Amino acid sequence: MSKILKVGIVGVGGISNTHLPGWKASPHAEIVAGCDLREDILPDWGKDHDVKKLTSNPSDLFNDPDIDIIDVCVPNMYHAPLSIAALEAGKHVICEKPLAPKPSDIQKMIDARNKSGKLLMTAQHFRFQGNSKAMKAEIDQGTLGDIYHARSWMLRRWAIPTGSGFILKKNSGGGPCIDIGVHILDLTLWFMGNPNPVAVSGVAAAPLAKQDGSFTGWGHSEIPKEFDVEDYAAAFVRFENGATLVLEVSWLMHHRTTGEDMQMWLYGTKAGCHWPKCEFLWDDKENKSFEEKELKNFPETLEAHAQECVEFAQAIVDGAPSPVPPEQSKQVMSILDGIYQSQSAGKEVRIDQ
Ligand SMILES: NC(=O)c1ccc[n+]([C@@H]2O[C@H](COP(=O)([O-])OP(=O)(O)OC[C@H]3O[C@@H](n4cnc5c(N)ncnc54)[C@H](O)[C@@H]3O)[C@@H](O)[C@H]2O)c1
Repeated sequence: MSKILKVGIVGVGGISNTHLPGWKASPHAEIVAGCDLREDILPDWGKDHDVKKLTSNPSDLFNDPDIDIIDVCVPNMYHAPLSIAALEAGKHVICEKPLAPKPSDIQKMIDARNKSGKLLMTAQHFRFQGNSKAMKAEIDQGTLGDIYHARSWMLRRWAIPTGSGFILKKNSGGGPCIDIGVHILDLTLWFMGNPNPVAVSGVAAAPLAKQDGSFTGWGHSEIPKEFDVEDYAAAFVRFENGATLVLEVSWLMHHRTTGEDMQMWLYGTKAGCHWPKCEFLWDDKENKSFEEKELKNFPETLEAHAQECVEFAQAIVDGAPSPVPPEQSKQVMSILDGIYQSQSAGKEVRIDQ
């Protein structure tokens, strides 16, 4: 029986609740500590999860020799400093998405990971759904041939998360471009085999959220006046291998969806496919017919946020690579950061990796 890895969560707010079932289900991990700047929520959280070590100072967790894994669940702008401090203290780190809003900060996290010899993983939970795993396996068999174009979108009709961790640039680093763009883009690049992006032409603006009193946020909460990020973004991306991608994301748009419309098409030289349907389309040249198949047998998984925690602990125990390497997250963020740069420049920008 291998050692049970002890986990400390930094930031016991919304998303941490989706990680807890994973730590509880893992045969290799156990949650032992929680940290949050809000001391008022810690006692109840500790009671609910039977966790005794509670603190408002993240360093207490980093300096605790008993703790092996730090789970970073705070707003985006604090991911890099906390993850780097945890790695420097010799902890493995799983960090919520986006790893950091700036690619240069992700590079600093990679440097800290390299020095520490520990694992660093981005919590990109969509990769851990059964349908994503099945589609990745099928694509990796070469079913699509060379993927030369992709179309990806994640569009909400009326769902701005109005918390200050999301709508103030100083906390989030940006709006839906990095909040939800990071989900669909990470998944798309992963399916494409993570080609190297070289140029982006993009737009990021707030045509609806800044209209006086016309719109509300998630659950009809007020959009704070201080809202200073975009409400939609769109981009055309070129990759080193010649492939291209069209990306569209929004928290607020007059789009036909009850909640969220998240999908992608990948087009290859042998076939095309759609996620999340897991539908593959191709031509049978001999019979001159259009063919299609839908993948039906998905690997069984826990809910995806829980599954990613289980697989992170498993990778540590197995001495395996990070299930979501930070190098791939840097690639994703260089595109999303490129959208903001292109918006400012008013033209296509080159991406420096
Ligand atoms: N993967 C997903 O599906 C998903 C969904 C929502 C949010 N997220 C990500 O999770 C992160 C947190 O979002 P959330 O919805 O849980 O926010 P939240 O506001 O509900 O929780 C964040 C918690 O962190 C605490 N905190 C802030 N700064 C801190 C610090 N320096 N040290 C310790 N505690 C600190 C806050 O007091 C709060 O309790 C964000 O990066 C967000 O992008 C991911």
